[in-house]
This record gives sequence, structure tokens and C-alpha cells, in this order.
Amino acid sequence: MMSINWFPGHMHKARKEIAKVMDEIDVVIEVLDARLPVSSENPMISQLGKGTPVIKLLNKSDLADPVRTQEWVDYYNSLPDTRAIMIDYKQKKLISSIPNLCNELVPSRSNNGRQVRAMIMGIPNVGKSTMINALLGKKIAKVGNEPAVTKGQKRFLLKNGMALSDTPGMLWPKIEDRDSGYRLAASGAIKNTAIEFQQVAEYAAEFLCQDYPELMVARYKLKKIPENADELLKEIGRKRGGLRAGGKIDMHKASEILLNELRGGQIGLVTYETVSEWLEKWEQQRIEAERLAAEELAAEAAKEQGKE
Ligand code: G4P
Repeated sequence: MMSINWFPGHMHKARKEIAKVMDEIDVVIEVLDARLPVSSENPMISQLGKGTPVIKLLNKSDLADPVRTQEWVDYYNSLPDTRAIMIDYKQKKLISSIPNLCNELVPSRSNNGRQVRAMIMGIPNVGKSTMINALLGKKIAKVGNEPAVTKGQKRFLLKNGMALSDTPGMLWPKIEDRDSGYRLAASGAIKNTAIEFQQVAEYAAEFLCQDYPELMVARYKLKKIPENADELLKEIGRKRGGLRAGGKIDMHKASEILLNELRGGQIGLVTYETVSEWLEKWEQQRIEAERLAAEELAAEAAKEQGKE
């Protein structure tokens, strides 16, 4: 499996820099990939930003399943100090409404004529620079993908008077579990991953067969819903990849076709993560934590009894 550590050494530097400026930030604008809101977040944002209102931009929603994205928006909007919007880089009007949304989140500052200070954060390739450019109405140099901060922080003044800062340093996605790693790779959120290309395609094919079989049938003109990843890839290979010598299906070519079309949006609108899956996992984590705590308490009690 993946060997990427989501918290490499230089992240410590980024964390220190972010912690330093966080006191002077009123609103965090967190850019997420709408197709994978959980796996495209960086836990530092929620840790360091505790108590600071956050606007979650579910970006690239032009590639995501609108029903699932709406569920995420509703879920995030039910959290305290959190506003979420479904967005993509073509929605200029919506983007230009973000500064006012920031003001609304901190009325204590905006109503008193004080400058609202926002910081935009997100993992690489999530669309942060594109968003900053759209907010500023001009193109700025991309500095985000440097491992650490060199010269302080970039700060911009927006039309409504709001100050917008870029994250000082690069924030990696969290790649804690198998699913997150594969989803980041399958969506193209991270490109050159440590995982085998073909394994990513198999993961994607399995997911598509389960969650979006009708899109597969339509795109690859299949006679029936494929039963599993192997069957789907073979079918794509047969139809599109051509056959290799001896009638063997070119599985590598089939994998390439599937991944390219999935990432490019030709397959249709796809979202990898659902609110119910998240809540279930979350619930499981809580149950597990409680179980461990109970075990610890029982062990403590047994030790105490042994002493008596
Ligand atoms: P970053 O600063 O967070 O690293 O991301 P950046 O703005 O550079 O965007 C990364 C890629 O994502 C860019 O593609 C950009 O055009 C694309 N992108 C940004 N927002 C959206 C969106 O809402 N929808 C879609 N479909 N794409 C979006 P690129 O420069 O062509 O890079 P690549 O695609 O060749 O990697």
C-alpha cells in the first residue's frame, strides 16, 4: 500500500507558520474537492482553526454528483460556525459573493467597520490559486506548491475591503487509510502516487460498479451491469483498448482509459464519499475509542484490586 506520510517534516514548519498567523484570522476559507470532501481535507485546518468560523468551498462541483454534494453542504451547514457552498471555477457570481459571506460570519467585526481577515487553505491542486485569482480578478503567481514558506505570507486586499491571505506553506492531504489514498489518486487530486496505476484503476472500477453502474453502462455501451472491477475493465479493454497479440486484453490500456475519462469528467458526475459513510466511520471511531477507554479503566481497576 501507499508509503506517503501525510505529515512529512516540512509540515511542522507550515504548522508553526499557520499557528502564528491564526490569531489574526477571522474566517478560514477551506477549499475542498467536492468529489472527496473527507479525503481532500487537511486535519491541521480544523485543528488550528478551532473556534474560527469556516467557509467550506466544495470546489470542482462541476465534476461531482450534485445529490451527494448537496448532502455534504447540508451536513456542513448543520455544524457550528460553518458555512458550506457548492462551487466551481466557472461560477463567477458565486465566487464574488464569498467576501460578503465572510462578513456575515463575523458580524462583530464587519458591523463595526473593522477589516475582516480571511485565510484561504486547501491541499495542492484543489483549486486554491484559481479561486484566489477569481476573487482578485487578476492572475497572481502560484506559490502554493512549495514545500515550505520562504518569505512570509501573501496578503491581498479585496474590493469589499476584506483582507485575504494565502496559506503559508503547503498542506498535504491526509492519507490515513486505504480508501483516502485510492480516492485521491483515482480523482486525480494527487497525481504521481506511490500506488500502482493499475491498482488505482481497479479500485476506481470497483467503486464505479458499486455506486454508479448506470454511468458505466451508458459510457461503455454495455449490455448489462458489470459484476465487478475485472469484468468492467475487460469490457472496456475489449471495446476500446484493442486486443493484444493472441487475443489478450490490454488491461493497462483499459485502466488508462477508465482513469483518464473518470478524472476528466467524461464518465459523468461522480462523488467518492458520502455523508452517511462518514458518519458511520465516525460513529465506529467513537465506539472504538470508548471500548479502548473502558478496557483501560477495567485494567486499572484490576490492578487496584490486585494491590488490595
Ligand atoms: P491549487 O492552487 O490548489 O494547487 O490548484 P489550482 O488552482 O492550480 O488548480 C488545479 C487544477 O484544477 C487546474 O487545472 C485548475 O484549472 C483546475 N480547477 C480548479 N478549479 C476547478 C473547478 O472548479 N473545476 C474543475 N473542473 N477544475 C478546476 P490545470 O491547471 O489544468 O491543471 P491540471 O488539470 O493540468 O492538473
